[in-house]
Amino acid sequence: MKSTTVSFIKKLINENAHTPFYFYELELLEKTLKSITENAGKYGYEVHYALKANSNDIILKHISKHLPGADCVSGNEVKKAIETGFDAQKVVFAGVGKSDREIDYALDQDIFCFNCESLQELEVINQRAALKNKTANIALRINPGVNANTHHYITTGLEENKFGINIWELPAVLLILKSLPNLKIIGLHFHIGSQITDLQPFRSLCLKVNEIQEWFDSQHIHLEHINVGGGLGVDYHEPDSAAMPDFAAYFKLFNDFLRLKPNQKLHFELGRAIVAQCGILISQVLYVKQGVKTRFAILDAGMTELIRPALYQSYHKIENISAASDGNGFLYDVVGPICESSDCFGKAVPLPETKRGDIIAIRSTGAYGEVMASQYNLREIAPSCFMPFSE
Ligand code: LLP
Repeated sequence: MKSTTVSFIKKLINENAHTPFYFYELELLEKTLKSITENAGKYGYEVHYALKANSNDIILKHISKHLPGADCVSGNEVKKAIETGFDAQKVVFAGVGKSDREIDYALDQDIFCFNCESLQELEVINQRAALKNKTANIALRINPGVNANTHHYITTGLEENKFGINIWELPAVLLILKSLPNLKIIGLHFHIGSQITDLQPFRSLCLKVNEIQEWFDSQHIHLEHINVGGGLGVDYHEPDSAAMPDFAAYFKLFNDFLRLKPNQKLHFELGRAIVAQCGILISQVLYVKQGVKTRFAILDAGMTELIRPALYQSYHKIENISAASDGNGFLYDVVGPICESSDCFGKAVPLPETKRGDIIAIRSTGAYGEVMASQYNLREIAPSCFMPFSE
């Protein structure tokens, strides 16, 4: 971590900032956004920010200045996106279980498109739109059957998932669409999973999309939009030296392998790749406890602030930023205060000798950190702080 960041965090705590809190480096966020707009812009691609990754107001206001499009999965996300500067006409609304109320709200906001996940959902959106005398733009979320090779909880493009419409259902869908006058099909939507660091699955997705497009062609259906979802992963092991994914390679791959039809626009829904590395969960050591074989560092942050390690056994780099050096340390099980054995951020983590009061930084927590917080054990929701821009 940069020494200026460490000093700033220490200063905040000296000035009585209570831990745990989320700490965000806006400068890195800004750099990341610039790299995305530059690399996606080369090919005329449109990136919608996936609010589910982080919906902190200040973060959203920064992102919406660079990327006016948003990917939302609830009525409240649609509302929040519009309130924080995203353009309603660039909002896509996805999710397997949109309620009537959420659909009505999105229709009232004239959003760009509903990504539809089932036959019944199409009928309901048609019905709700008819009541308002409107036509809803829809994209079909197709399950492409591509294996993302990521954690099974965050793989979504395979047939047995609850998400999307299966390819074999498409003829039936087209038939139903003919009887739904308040829907206009404008595109196809795909999403194969999250935290994908090897680009190979995205290549397979491109080839699958090409195949599916041929089928639509054979049905004489022309669609203006293809949305390939999100999923680009980040390097949780190297948050400093690999602070940004290789956006140039990512977008180039789609340019190389996905055959767009004339006048077709390609859309993306990136979440994690935009916000993961700019967030750090800051905590302090409450106690150090020697077990039979294990040395525990018990933090004031727990799975209530960051559930990813407990839920997906995910790795986050853990640093003791109070200790003077990295050398001559011990292995610690770094755990939280919650009454659950799974409340553990890392086992056998090498740390310099760690004491009560030391400041612990849990890195790469800008995505799916703060947004997944809970109040289990009646805990308070951790606040957020921001590193100002350096001149
Ligand atoms: N589009 C759709 C349809 C999605 O389901 C998701 C994420 C995204 C876009 C954004 O994906 P990203 O670019 O962030 O990978 N809580 C889990 C991740 C769940 C991802 C859910 N869907 C985690 O902490 O790893």
